[in-house]
Amino acid sequence: MKVNGVNYRTIWPDKGDNKIIRIIDQRHLPHEFVVEDLKTVQDFETAIRDMHVRGAGLIGATAGFGMYIAALSAPAKRADEHIKESSEKILATRPTAGNLAWAVKRQLQTISAEHSLEAKIKASFSTACAIADEDVEFCRNIGLHGKTVIEEISRLKPDSVVNILTHCNAGWLAFVDYGSATAPIYAAHRAGIKIHVWVDETRPWLQGAKLTAWELKQEGIPHTLIPDNTGGHLMQNGLVDMVIVGTDRTTRTGNVANKIGTYLKAVAARDNRIPFYVALPSSTFDWNIGDNISDIPIEQRSSDEIKYVSGKTADGEIETVLIAPEETETANYAFDITPSRLITGLITERGVVAAGEDAILELYPEHKGKRSQP
Ligand code: MRU
Repeated sequence: MKVNGVNYRTIWPDKGDNKIIRIIDQRHLPHEFVVEDLKTVQDFETAIRDMHVRGAGLIGATAGFGMYIAALSAPAKRADEHIKESSEKILATRPTAGNLAWAVKRQLQTISAEHSLEAKIKASFSTACAIADEDVEFCRNIGLHGKTVIEEISRLKPDSVVNILTHCNAGWLAFVDYGSATAPIYAAHRAGIKIHVWVDETRPWLQGAKLTAWELKQEGIPHTLIPDNTGGHLMQNGLVDMVIVGTDRTTRTGNVANKIGTYLKAVAARDNRIPFYVALPSSTFDWNIGDNISDIPIEQRSSDEIKYVSGKTADGEIETVLIAPEETETANYAFDITPSRLITGLITERGVVAAGEDAILELYPEHKGKRSQP
């Protein structure tokens, strides 16, 4: 997608030296556009854990490149141990993220199929690039399928704007390009459908305020930033036509783990008979989990993310300030689970499908009947 008119992906190998992987360090947005170089496994761990990169698809793509760097930095005498240890370190960074486990597992399979270290490095680089390229293609197709859903809603209200509410950032910054929840929005906008996006600010990390609002502005899409608690009021007053969110892990039965607060939006949408869609590439499905939602680990993050906020002062300086009593206890659950019964449909790269095991497996028959151990 475009940043000041220039096309970017969120992660890419340096053109002249593929021992360096470059990312957009999202902690600085929207005030500064900073590109960071990742060179060691430790750099990758920090970038994922401390959210220099974040979002389902991008965490997966970063883990893919991290595993390549693990192979590249492996001492010849204990290459397999080094790669295994690195995979465990990368896996521990964001426990809810389904794409993280998916990408690490794929890389471990790739690497173990090769015998020489040189071949392991070469194959893991190709796989990392393939994971990133596939992510782009998945999201592009999610855009095409999701556009038809927006089109149908826009047909019901000719001459007026389709109001879409989204939570967190499931935009191109959360993937390698296009995004999941935003891909249909970009596709609809390009097709000339009149849309407007309500952007939940998404406390405490503020992905909506910092990232989604910035992304939509770059693409010239009309949007309005709202505090997280506003959605229910808008829905009751006929100001939301549909909700589209992303997901960090979706069970084979269609339950969706996504940014904390998603569940409350789904409940409000159901109460107001507003369609609630979840957009995801198949790499986000956890084919091993069914209806036992407690099988999805929910990440808990630092208390500082709740008690402190940072932003730009009138002098243009970035400052962090304390907003709660310093000793206050906090609970910072990063994700919640929206049960499949509240979801109108899943927008995937293969099409739009009901959030239920039979329908999902009809679309992904290769996963019928198999529940492998993670
Ligand atoms: O903690 P984050 O910013 O990585 O969480 C991101 C979200 O919850 C997104 O909504 C999600 O990844 C779904 S789409 C990428």
